[in-house]
Amino acid sequence: MCGIIGITQNNSEDLMEKLYQSLKRLEYRGYDSVGFAVLSQESIKISKNKGKVDEVAKQTDFSLMKGTTGIGHSRWATHGAPTKENAHPHTDCQNKIAVIHNGIISNFLQLRKELTQKGHIFTSETDTEVVPHLLEDLLQQGKSMKEALFELATILGGAYALVVIHTSEPNKIYCMKKENPLILGVTKDESYAASDIPAFLPYTREAITLRDDELATLEPGKYMIYNVKTGKTVSRKPHRITWTPDAAQKGGYPHFMLKEIHESGQVLRTQLASEISNVEQIAQAILDADNIITMAAGTAFYASLTTQYLFQQTFGKIVIPTIASEYETVLPIINKNTVVVAVSQSGETIDTIKAVKEAKQKGAKIIAIVNVVGSTITRIADHIVYIQAGPEIGVAATKTYLAQVFAIWRIYHQALLKTNQTTLAQQLQKAIQNIPDEIERIVRNDEAKARDIAKKIQNAQSAFYLGRGINLTTALEGALKLKEISYIHAEAYPAGESKHGPIALIHKNYPIIFIAPNDNTREKIIGNIMEMKARGAYTIGIIEKHDQELKQILHQYFEINPQYSKQLQNIPYQIPLHLIAYYTATTKGHDPDYPRNLAKSVTVE
Ligand code: G6P
Repeated sequence: MCGIIGITQNNSEDLMEKLYQSLKRLEYRGYDSVGFAVLSQESIKISKNKGKVDEVAKQTDFSLMKGTTGIGHSRWATHGAPTKENAHPHTDCQNKIAVIHNGIISNFLQLRKELTQKGHIFTSETDTEVVPHLLEDLLQQGKSMKEALFELATILGGAYALVVIHTSEPNKIYCMKKENPLILGVTKDESYAASDIPAFLPYTREAITLRDDELATLEPGKYMIYNVKTGKTVSRKPHRITWTPDAAQKGGYPHFMLKEIHESGQVLRTQLASEISNVEQIAQAILDADNIITMAAGTAFYASLTTQYLFQQTFGKIVIPTIASEYETVLPIINKNTVVVAVSQSGETIDTIKAVKEAKQKGAKIIAIVNVVGSTITRIADHIVYIQAGPEIGVAATKTYLAQVFAIWRIYHQALLKTNQTTLAQQLQKAIQNIPDEIERIVRNDEAKARDIAKKIQNAQSAFYLGRGINLTTALEGALKLKEISYIHAEAYPAGESKHGPIALIHKNYPIIFIAPNDNTREKIIGNIMEMKARGAYTIGIIEKHDQELKQILHQYFEINPQYSKQLQNIPYQIPLHLIAYYTATTKGHDPDYPRNLAKSVTVE
């Protein structure tokens, strides 16, 4: 969703270049229009338009936008179409205040009506534009910017990350947040505000996470934080980001997505090397709970399903996977004996935040499986497992999906140990240790085949992904990836269910991907393959290495080492599907890193 950057520094030479580069690094969040504002000689210079960061930068004369303080924004349209008028920054009637915003001001219609009656002129359809006009009004009443912003916090409904500049304070940036992320970055001479860390990663790794109902003022090399409710200052030291600036670069790969697929093995290796004590505690908390509810959205939801397959089947625990935005359905059964497992790469998905907050209020213990350190969900959680995946820039999650699933398997392993299921635990331990190498082997071996399959299926209208048991998660994630980036309609079904409807769509060369390990699901999957083949489907299987029978039946196959047919299987079996999605998108000429209409981190409900 919307990308935010604010910079205040002593040097005026490179400000615009840095704003531009920062927005480039936020492109992955998804957006449709772009804008910049720079405070310059007691006026605000603005350049904005619909389109890509590069397009808008090209239309902007950087030499006319000299200053030491500026803001940049990439907008993901909610209120009003992606147009120049609706692009941020938005200003007040006198062009003295410029505002960028991520989130939704829920009471904007009423506020707009009142402000219009007072004579304010609006130039966009956005909810955001009420903010500069309200501030203008409050300043006219004799309030300082800080006082005006404190009051604004009592007026605005909904969610926001706001960054504001004013001509009267050419070296200052004001930031305020409620429910949408804002991270501050500091150096000796510069200060940054951003919606996400990669924006300022090349300039500083010293970061401060702003919390809800906080206002920060930034000056070059200085920051102050206030609680907007009490007006009191808040003392918070920066924490050091371990991500390297290189991690947010393509590093020679044509796309972030391909780089991130290649990083998957290493990510799991890093997770393995990390602290285990919290994983042990979480395993115990799950074993002690009456019921477990998972809450997540998108890819993270599919990862969270792993919890159900593992804990329900082995330990007889009731596990209810819940799409975060549907949390109300499970609220009545949440109590203090409930464990909620919240899975989120960003830790900032608003649906998941809302669900987790409500569950916490009802007494549930919250376990967060998250990538971004210090993100909102980690602050609500009782226990946290960081998946240690580094920045993921491609909108379509790949390495973080595997890292989320891996984290769940590791918790499961600890639960096996705690319940003295030693044989199973030992087998799993071996698989866990070897999995990074296996992933790297699959990526190396299967890229060429995935490219060939992409050529074969690129013109398909639709595809099915069929799996059974835990590999239904593999199928669901595989189908989501294909539809997200190649725009081929793809659906996943439990293979057994494919006869109850989906089979009606099958015709000659209809692509179907089967997840077919050599476990208790194999015989039934073979039956499903035969049914589909008999109707002309083009069948692709992810199978156990040397499964001669399946090799003969299928049109195409990817082979996974036997060790993974029963342990950790929804990790290695996923890799070929990520590769198929990537190569189908690129074969069709689509940019897999920035799929249309999608946002990396969805911060509106
Ligand atoms: C968006 C992204 C997905 C992601 C989902 C949940 O829809 O496009 O890739 O899986 O949000 O994000 P989270 O950060 O909570 O894992």
